[in-house]
Amino acid sequence: MRRKVTIVGAGQVGATVAHMIAERGLADVVLVDIIEGLPQGKGLDLQEAAPILRFDTRVIGTNDYRDVADSDIVVITAGVPRKPGMSRSDLLETNAAIVRDVVEKVVAVAPGAILIVVTNPLDAMAYLAYRVSGLPKERVIGMAGVLDSARFRTFIALELGISVENVHAFVLGGHGDEMVPLPRYSTVAGVPITHLLPRERIEALIERTRRGGGEIVDLLKTGSAFYAPAASILEMVDAIVHDRHKILPCSVYCEGEYGAHGVFLGVPVVLGARGVERVFQIELLPEEQDALQRSIQAVRELVEALQV
Ligand code: LAC
Repeated sequence: MRRKVTIVGAGQVGATVAHMIAERGLADVVLVDIIEGLPQGKGLDLQEAAPILRFDTRVIGTNDYRDVADSDIVVITAGVPRKPGMSRSDLLETNAAIVRDVVEKVVAVAPGAILIVVTNPLDAMAYLAYRVSGLPKERVIGMAGVLDSARFRTFIALELGISVENVHAFVLGGHGDEMVPLPRYSTVAGVPITHLLPRERIEALIERTRRGGGEIVDLLKTGSAFYAPAASILEMVDAIVHDRHKILPCSVYCEGEYGAHGVFLGVPVVLGARGVERVFQIELLPEEQDALQRSIQAVRELVEALQV
């Protein structure tokens, strides 16, 4: 039986991931937005591409949460994006109200779904979704690490002039300026980049990765990134739909893993049909653990400001 994936928020990220999922025939797609006509228009337009792109899955757009019933996965992209000069945390209050409302409506009709939270500030919104939904922690997952790793992988591949397929990268921590890319565990054809690039070049790539979202916001001026975020969501949806047991960095509720207690934090997890199958633990050096600790603190401060 075909899976059903709902995407809440028919903006740039939501519509782009709907396109990517539909084009691969991965699942039926329901696109939800509060703006009347917008999700219906985008959904119908995408459905009409099916004969040419060759997919048989259904795409609908709606303003009605009854259409969300029985979804296997619900991706929450609803919220306002950053403008130049804003940090992700500047979005906290506005987006918290939106995410709370969406999660309440989703769990009322699709209590069996896995939630993938995309709205910023990411780790705080994922925590809010977890608390408001009452779902088990395995089924509330924030998308950030896949995106941050994709950016790091891109910059490494461009720097070395080799295929991105040969590059694996590890990025831990919150989706913010305190994120923790780990060069020791970032490899090209199995070789750590610390063997391939001088320290200052690695530092420059890490800095660009940390500012990766902001770099796009500064260029676009009217919104934030959407192609790479959508592709990152796609990879998570694909891992769940195909029960791949794929190791991907995701923001999940940690209860002691990597020294994080009771917060959402980006860590490598095994992603499969049940959601988070387990957290994949690796040894960190003391300085890496310190950097992660600072990231945990930054996430914690945002969550405290939320008062959930
Ligand atoms: C980014 C925003 C969406 O990293 O958080 O592009």
